[in-house]
Amino acid sequence: MIVILGYKEEEHAKHVAKHLQDIKEEYCFLDTAQYPYDVLFSWKADCENSGSIIIDNKKIDFSDIKSVYWRNFSGIKNETIDDGDNTDFLSNMVYRERESALYSLFYSLKINWVNSINAFELHKKKPYLTNLFKKNNIRVPRTLITNDKDSVLDFFESNNEQIILKPVRGGAYTKKMTKDDFTKQKLSQLIVSPVQFQEYIDGTDIRVYAYQEEIYALEIRTDNIDFRTDGNAELIPIELPEKVKQDCLKVMKICDLKYSGIDIRLNSKNEYVFIEANPAPMFINVEKKTGYPLTQALINILVNH
Ligand SMILES: Nc1ncnc2c1ncn2[C@@H]1O[C@H](COP(=O)(O)OP(=O)(O)OP(=O)(O)O)[C@@H](O)[C@H]1O
Ligand SMILES: [Mg+2]
Repeated sequence: MIVILGYKEEEHAKHVAKHLQDIKEEYCFLDTAQYPYDVLFSWKADCENSGSIIIDNKKIDFSDIKSVYWRNFSGIKNETIDDGDNTDFLSNMVYRERESALYSLFYSLKINWVNSINAFELHKKKPYLTNLFKKNNIRVPRTLITNDKDSVLDFFESNNEQIILKPVRGGAYTKKMTKDDFTKQKLSQLIVSPVQFQEYIDGTDIRVYAYQEEIYALEIRTDNIDFRTDGNAELIPIELPEKVKQDCLKVMKICDLKYSGIDIRLNSKNEYVFIEANPAPMFINVEKKTGYPLTQALINILVNH
């Protein structure tokens, strides 16, 4: 049994399900939004893989799960549990209990997680990963995380006025900063939350799909700062230098990844600068445009690990 963590209508979850069906591999969807009312589990935490989960009224033994393809975590239901004056406290506690039980299970089950909860939790702490990459001699952009407006101008000047800003955790496009951004009004917004500033890496985007040691790389040609804003970006298969391949494998180890879409910038000095390693990258469009066998590579690590 292969568990697809995500929801049935999502493009990549659906795509992987279809390919598993084609090779007659049993699978099911686990949508965390259905938990706890329509996803029930019972687990003996002092034993290895002992227990079962009920999804769509079907009971699955943990020991029968071969792999999990983690595509989307839809969150955990956070609902109001009415208890008079105690409502906020109780609702919050119920949420924490649900989370603690599910997370503990995900951390503990010894199955082939592609990828693990540990990898996803690490990916939420991108500046920490940037720090670990650097400690492992991997080239990363100079990075400042701050909600102190006074430190941004210094960073801007010390990087020849070539910096970008983007969220710490992700979820919004990368923007290049100009002198016009240094108005009192704009900078005062920083107090709300720290932002991630980085030296701007000129050049082009490289995307690497890595399946354990199997690596497929491509260059993304676009004039936009963030390639995702350009639907017509050109995708060109490339071969990476051996050292960069080794750095990709190092990054996968640091991030606890079995499979990843790694974002790199190749600058005009021919340096490969590592931006991030995604634990559940999209690949359908890239496969269509490059001809790389990305679906098969993913299916292989799910089925033949
Ligand atoms: N320091 C930088 N210099 C130049 N371009 C950058 C830099 N950082 C990011 N970019 C561009 O913006 C894109 C998105 O940035 P990044 O991968 O860090 O965040 P993200 O993709 O928004 O995160 P997530 O995928 O988790 O939402 C990169 O792929 C790259 O094209
Ligand atoms: Mg990215």
